[in-house]
Amino acid sequence: MALTNLINLVYILSAVTFILGFKMISSPESAQRGNLISGLGMATAIIVTLMLPDIERFQFIFMGAAVGAAIGLFFAYRTPMTGMPQMVGLLNGFGGLASWFVALAEFESPRDQGLFGGSVLWLAAIIGAVTFSGSIIAWAKLDEKFISGKPIMYKGQQIVTLVVMLGMLACGIMFAKDTLDPNALYYFGGFSLFAFILGILLTIPIGGADMPVVICLLNSYSGMAACASGFVVGNTLLVVAGALVGASGIILTLIMCKAMNRSVANVFLGGFGAPVTGTAMEVSGEIKPIKPDEAYLVLEAAQSVVIVPGYGMAVSQAQHAVRELTEQLEKNGTEVRFAIHPVAGRMPGHMNVLLAEANISYDAMVEMDAINPTMETVDVCMIIGANDVVNPAARVDKMSPLYGMPIINADYAKTVIIMKRSMGKGFAGVENPLFFNNNSRMLFGDAKASLQALVSEFKGGN
Ligand code: TAP
Repeated sequence: MALTNLINLVYILSAVTFILGFKMISSPESAQRGNLISGLGMATAIIVTLMLPDIERFQFIFMGAAVGAAIGLFFAYRTPMTGMPQMVGLLNGFGGLASWFVALAEFESPRDQGLFGGSVLWLAAIIGAVTFSGSIIAWAKLDEKFISGKPIMYKGQQIVTLVVMLGMLACGIMFAKDTLDPNALYYFGGFSLFAFILGILLTIPIGGADMPVVICLLNSYSGMAACASGFVVGNTLLVVAGALVGASGIILTLIMCKAMNRSVANVFLGGFGAPVTGTAMEVSGEIKPIKPDEAYLVLEAAQSVVIVPGYGMAVSQAQHAVRELTEQLEKNGTEVRFAIHPVAGRMPGHMNVLLAEANISYDAMVEMDAINPTMETVDVCMIIGANDVVNPAARVDKMSPLYGMPIINADYAKTVIIMKRSMGKGFAGVENPLFFNNNSRMLFGDAKASLQALVSEFKGGN
C-alpha cells in the first residue's frame, strides 16, 4: 500500500513537471530547462514504475532501453536541422507502434477485459497502428526516398477508405464483445491490419509540402495512442502524458494551418502540395541584380535593418554568417531586427532554433504581427532565403495558392535586398512579384557565401 501511495505521489509530481516543461518550452530562453525538468520527471516516473512487484526480468527492460537509447542518440546527432520533420515523424511512428505492442501484450494476458477493456484495447491498437503506418508514409514522402512527395489520388478513394474503416470497426465490435473468444486473436489481427492500411490511405493523398502539418497531427495521434495504452495497463501517468501530447499536437496543427491560411479539412482532404504552375497575377517590372560591394554600400548607410530568414537560410546553413553580419551592422550603429514568420522554413520554430543556435539574441527576434506595422520606417529589409512568406501576391491575388496567408510586409521597406541562388520558386511553387518591384535588389548566390562576402566588405571598410 505504501509503495502504491509513493508511486502515485511521484506520478502526480511527474505530471506537474510535464505541464511545467510544456509551459517553459514556449519561450526560447527557458526551453532547454523545460525539456530537462520534464525529462527528469519522466525518468523518476520510470524508476518508481520499475519498483512495482509484478515487473520482472529487468535484463530485457534494460537491454531494450539501452539499444533504443543508442539508436535514438545516433540518429539525433546525425540528423541535420533540415531533416528534423522527418525525424519527428519517425519517432511518432515508433510511439504508435509501442502502443500497439502494449495492446497486444495486454490482450495476451489471460484476463477477461470486459466490454470497456476490450474497447480500450481496440482503440490503443488501432490508433497506434494508424500512427505507425501514417508516420512511415509521412517520413518517406518528406524524404522522397521510396515514394514521391506528390499527392497520390485515385478514383473511389473515399469509398476505399470508408470500407477499410468499416472493416476496422466490425472487427473491433467482434473483438470487444468477448476478448477470451478463441477467434479474438483473428479479430485483433484483422482490425490491426485495417488500421495499418488506413494510416497509409489517409497519408498518401497529402502532398509532401503539407507533411509537417500531418506530422503534428500524427504526433497528436501518438499521444492519444499512449493515453489509450495508459487505460489498458491502468497507468495514470501514461494517460496524463498521452493526453498532454494529444492536445498539444492538435493545437500545433491548428496554429500551422492558420498561419498557412488553410483549413485542417483542406490539408487532410488532400491534393495540395502538387506542383502549381503560377499565379494569375501579372508580374511586371524587371529584375535588378546587385553585387555584394554595392549591397554593402546600401547596408552601411542604413540606420535600421530588418532581416527576414526563410527556408534557404536553413539549406545554406547561413545562421552563423547572419550573426557575423549582424555584429558588423551593429558595430556600424545600425539597429538590426529579425522578422520571424510562423511558417518560415519547414517546421514550427525552424528559424528561431537556427538563429538561437548562432547565439542571436531572442530580443532581436520579432514576430510578424509586431514587426509589420513598423516596416514602412525600415531602411533595408534583407531577405535571406525566404520567398513565400514575403510574397505580396498573398495579399491581393485571389488565384494564388498563398492568397490570404499573412505575410511579412517586406515590400513596404525603403529598400529590399533579396538573397537567393536564382529565380527559383518557393514551397508553394508560385512567382513572387516582390522580386520585380522598383525598390527590390537581387543578391544572387548561396546565402552563406553572399553573407560572408558582405562581412568581408564591412571588415575591409573598417
Ligand atoms: P520558401 O518559400 O520555400 O522559399 C525558400 C527559398 O530559398 C527558395 O525560393 C530558394 O530560391 C531559396 N534557397 C534555397 N536554397 C538556398 C540557398 N542555399 N541560398 C539562398 N537561397 C536559397 O521558404 P519560406 O519563405 O521560408 O516559406 C516557407 C514555406 O513552407 C511556406 O510556403 C510555408 O507555408 C511552407 N511550410 C512551412 C511549414 C513550417 S511549419 N515552417 C510547414 C509546411 C509548409 P532559390 O532556389 O532561387 O535559391
